[in-house]
Amino acid sequence: MPIRHSTLHQLRIFEALSRHLSVTRTAQELHLTPPAVSIQIKQLADTLGQPLTEQLGKRLYLTPAGKIMAGTCRDVLDRLERASQDLAELQGLEKGVLRLAILTTTKYLIPRLLGQFCAVHPGIEVSLMVGNRQTLLARLQDNLDDLYVLGQPPQKLRVHATPFAHNPLVAVAYPDHPLAGQSNIPAAQLAGQLFIFREPGSGTRLACEGFFREHELEVGIRMELASNEAIKQTVAGRLGIAILSQHTVRAELASGELVILDVAGLPLLRQWHLVYPEGKQLTQAALAFQELLMLQADMQGVGGAAG
Ligand code: PGA
Repeated sequence: MPIRHSTLHQLRIFEALSRHLSVTRTAQELHLTPPAVSIQIKQLADTLGQPLTEQLGKRLYLTPAGKIMAGTCRDVLDRLERASQDLAELQGLEKGVLRLAILTTTKYLIPRLLGQFCAVHPGIEVSLMVGNRQTLLARLQDNLDDLYVLGQPPQKLRVHATPFAHNPLVAVAYPDHPLAGQSNIPAAQLAGQLFIFREPGSGTRLACEGFFREHELEVGIRMELASNEAIKQTVAGRLGIAILSQHTVRAELASGELVILDVAGLPLLRQWHLVYPEGKQLTQAALAFQELLMLQADMQGVGGAAG
C-alpha cells in the first residue's frame, strides 16, 4: 500500500518511538497503552511493506527504512506545527509552542528569562528539555527542538550560533580548604588535588579536561557526578574541589558555603550560545525568544555571531 495511506496518528507515534526506542516510553509520552503503540507501528510497517524496527536482545533498533521514516515524520510534524502557528498569527493570535533544549548549567539563567518571556507572550506554551552537552548535540542533530542553549557551538554540525551571556568557569572549594584565601595560586598547585568532576558528555567536563591538559596537570578524580547541584554539596562536604560555572554557585558563594580559588588561568572565560540548525525556519515564538536573548547579550556586552 502506498505511503499516503499511513495516518498522521501513526506518524506521530512512530516519531516518538524513533526517539525513545522503547514502546513503553513512547506509550507513556503519548498517553497510550503499549499494545496500542505496537499495533499502530505494525500497521504503518504493513502499509509501507517494510519493517521499521527490529528487536535485538532487549534493545529496539531502527531499520534503514525506519531511519528514513523517522526523519520524514519529524519533517511532517514540524511543518504542521509551523502551519498551525502561521494560521494562529493570521487570526492575530499569538499562540504556539516554543521547544527549547538547554544545558543543565543554564538552568540557573534560562528559566528566569522564560518567566519574562511568558509574561509578555502568555499564549505561547513552552516545552523545556534540560540535558548535558552530549544529549543536546544528539537532539540538535535530529532537529527535535526549535532552539538550543549550548556552551561551545558544535564543530561538526552546520548551525547558527550567537553568544548571549558570559559563562566563567571557576574553581570552588570549602572555605577552610588549604588553598582558600591564597592569591594567584599557580595552576601547578592543583596537581594531586582531589576533584569532583561532571560526567563524560558534559561541556563543563570537556573544558576542565582542556585546562588540565594545557597545564599538563595530573589531578585525582574523587568522584564523577552528573549534577551541578550534587557537586556543590560534595564540595561543601569537604570531599574535594571542582571547576563549575560561576552561575551555578552564586548562592553558595553568597552564603559563604563555598569559596572561589584564585588560580592562575582561571576563570575559564566561556560564553553561552543560542544555537539552531542552518536552514531551519524559526517559528514566531522562537524568533521572539531569540530577540529576548539578544537583549540579554546587549546588556551583558556580549556580541557577534559565531557560526
Ligand atoms: P554541561 O555544559 O551542562 O554539559 O556541563 C556546560 C557548557 O558546555 O558550558
